[in-house]
Amino acid sequence: MKKKKILITGGLGFIGHHLSLYLAERGHQIKVADCFYHHITNQQYNDFIIERITLLKKKTIPLEIVDVRNSDRILKLIKDFEPDTLIHLAATANASLCHIDPNEGINMGLMSFCGVLDALKKLGANVHTIYFSSSMVYGNFQKTEMRENDSVDPINVYGASKLSCEILLKSYSRSYGIPFSIIRPSALYGERCINRRITQIFIENIMQGKGIKVVGSGQTLLDFTDIRDLCQGTSLVIENPTKSTNQTFNITFGNARCISDLLDILQKEFGKFSIEHIPENPTTPRRGTLVIDKVVELLGYAPCHPLESGYRDLIRWYKNQSL
Ligand SMILES: NC(=O)c1ccc[n+]([C@@H]2O[C@H](COP(=O)([O-])OP(=O)(O)OC[C@H]3O[C@@H](n4cnc5c(N)ncnc54)[C@H](O)[C@@H]3O)[C@@H](O)[C@H]2O)c1
Repeated sequence: MKKKKILITGGLGFIGHHLSLYLAERGHQIKVADCFYHHITNQQYNDFIIERITLLKKKTIPLEIVDVRNSDRILKLIKDFEPDTLIHLAATANASLCHIDPNEGINMGLMSFCGVLDALKKLGANVHTIYFSSSMVYGNFQKTEMRENDSVDPINVYGASKLSCEILLKSYSRSYGIPFSIIRPSALYGERCINRRITQIFIENIMQGKGIKVVGSGQTLLDFTDIRDLCQGTSLVIENPTKSTNQTFNITFGNARCISDLLDILQKEFGKFSIEHIPENPTTPRRGTLVIDKVVELLGYAPCHPLESGYRDLIRWYKNQSL
């Protein structure tokens, strides 16, 4: 396997630091660009960020503090580092925050990517550019299982900004020859996350004795995906550019589960806790399974962390932290 030089924007984030460590372990040369745009609401999240930095340092992965909306800064970085692969993760990665402040969400999501695309265009760089999109581009799932070429129709600002970036990337590719891949993950969980998705909130609340809030009767479906599976799938996209270039891939576990399945696991690990049922949020799309046949057949992706073991690993990791 040819070793790659990979620049990761937003590489200090939840996905970014896991991916950086995973790819470095596989022998690739990694550089991280990040501007510390994190919503740190407590000391524990601060500690998680410090741990991310420590882990990157241990692997001697350089971290450059740069806001990638600044096209000149990112241009210089690309020029100096000369990556053959660029993974773009920098964004406001939270649909609720984008709903509260759409201007900020679009600014961080769309303008970050515009800065990167502009730099690549100016350099005429032949860099395999991998964009992290989202299941939210599909909007309300029209079927229980969605494939990459099914219709996209986002219902919130976050989904719209992710789809806008996909369209921009394809347009830049056609106009300036930038080779690309698009990855659509969903409902990720794993260690050192601070984005407050339900998998994380449930564990933290129960450990703090607070009880949890569940939308509706708990039958909401999500394609929960262990970050380790996403790292495996992404590495296959990077390492097989002849097959993955100019393609879009769903990369999830590939089997949606309902919230009550999470509750069963939590009850086995923690015993009883209080549950409050709350109404659905109309800006959150109805989702389901993202079909992963394409990445399985084309690249040999084999997710190996089903919810029962992956989520349990996360709970046990939390139990070893001091809350
Ligand atoms: N976590 C998920 O479940 C999930 C699911 C689908 C898609 N995604 C997408 O994957 C990407 C990464 O998600 P995440 O969960 O790791 O988010 P995250 O918030 O943990 O990480 C994003 C990182 O980007 C950095 N950043 C933001 N704007 C920047 C800028 N202008 N310049 C430099 N750095 C900047 C932040 O400091 C942060 O470290 C996002 O684009 C998100 O939309 C995430």
